[in-house]
Amino acid sequence: MAQLAVVGAGYVGLVTAACLAKLGHRVICVEVDESRLNGLAAGEPPISEPGLAELVREQLRHGSLRFTGDYAGVAESEFIFIAVPTPSREDGSADTSHVLHAVNSLIPHVRPATVIVVKSTVPVGTTDRLAAMPPLLEARIEVVSNPEFLRQGTAVHDFLQPDRVVIGASSPDAAARVARLYSSIEAPIVAVDTRSAELAKYTANALLAARVSFMNEISHIAAAVDANVDDVARIVGMDRRIGPAFLRAGLGWGGSCFPKDVLALAAVANSNGCRTPILQAVYETNELQREHAAKLLLDAVRTIPGPIVAILGLAFKPNTDDVRGSPALGIAQHLLAEGVIVRAHDPFALVNASRVLPDVEYSEDAYSALDGADAILLATEWEEYYDLDWILVRESMRGKTVVDGRNALNGVLLTDLGFRYWSFGRATQSNGNGTGPHEGPMDSSPLGGATHTNGNGAVPREDGFASALDFRGAVAE
Ligand code: UDX
Repeated sequence: MAQLAVVGAGYVGLVTAACLAKLGHRVICVEVDESRLNGLAAGEPPISEPGLAELVREQLRHGSLRFTGDYAGVAESEFIFIAVPTPSREDGSADTSHVLHAVNSLIPHVRPATVIVVKSTVPVGTTDRLAAMPPLLEARIEVVSNPEFLRQGTAVHDFLQPDRVVIGASSPDAAARVARLYSSIEAPIVAVDTRSAELAKYTANALLAARVSFMNEISHIAAAVDANVDDVARIVGMDRRIGPAFLRAGLGWGGSCFPKDVLALAAVANSNGCRTPILQAVYETNELQREHAAKLLLDAVRTIPGPIVAILGLAFKPNTDDVRGSPALGIAQHLLAEGVIVRAHDPFALVNASRVLPDVEYSEDAYSALDGADAILLATEWEEYYDLDWILVRESMRGKTVVDGRNALNGVLLTDLGFRYWSFGRATQSNGNGTGPHEGPMDSSPLGGATHTNGNGAVPREDGFASALDFRGAVAE
């Protein structure tokens, strides 16, 4: 059992603190936000994550987890984990000022030979730069990289049952000390140099984003040649060299990590003189999915006075209330700018979404959001949307366009019911879940040729990547 501190009780910090306490360590978590701190001390985490509140309360009760607003709280710790945000700067690079602030704040309190463990996702070289700070060198404090691979919705599971634990250290002794903290976890420990650990974190997220973007590109080819992208994904995913995960086509990826990490990796590469055509394409393709959906919706409602689009799902993926980088919000913002009335429903994310886009008409109930709408966008594949009564929906809608941004609905059924159903690359004839209309925008894929247009009907950006930030729009930090 070790005495640990975790700086930051945000998403990564809180999961890390609670799980390290669960592993048998004594953990103090430093959180400077007073209202968050008060909630935590009462066992109320500020984020919703399955199993987290229970774990925090359990460890508070055991006395293995404590919270403080004072950096002096780290004084007794042998290890101090840094888990503060590294948001995107305007140019896409990661802003490490919170990390630097955290380290500077703990320096007066830290005891010699403590190990600082960097959990935050930081640009390659950051761990080494921290380790070279004179006060840390003088106090023989080592700085180690220990990146996280936590998915929202399964973060507690991912921490306690990881695929691997990565430790980037410049001394074998520091690596061994950090590895011992994880000795009760059954997973390979991969000890490497600090820079490889930092780069591996970015690479994992960028590669997952690339798989999705790649399948999204394939989805447009599938639409153009009347094939079914879901079947294609199933077939290629059965190849053991490829595997089935992260091949689902649709509106593309969002969240607090993929968008920021793809941009930050490109920034690291560019500042080191490396070109990144693949990363640029990964990002640009993701943006085009949103533009494509926005164009389908605008085409469907353009001639209607006071057009209404209803969006089902606002979170960037199901089972979270997080709307950061959510395709739904980017599209909603675009539609609002085009004069469309946007209504939206989400089982969990209404409050977070309304903070970012107050002009959307939010509804607590999916059916009321759809009532009177000219077109629907299914943006997040929440389970409850699979069970909608589409006959009821058809009767209550003004129009009949359904854009299935997650290839989640039964297109054959919806077409039979009289809807104009658009998906992302499913064939007209398929195993009971094909698409409807054969003519129209989906067939003239916006990615199909040199003259493709974006959601405004304008020719897309020449340089794509830099200006892609513009469409990123509603990325709430
Ligand atoms: C991600 C990483 O998975 C995690 O390891 C990292 O540390 C933090 O970022 P998370 O942001 O929770 O986790 O989301 P994830 O489940 O990875 O999904 C990312 C996005 O990709 C979502 O918007 C999701 O809808 C999209 N996605 C995923 C697809 O569009 N298709 C797929 O096949 C899979």
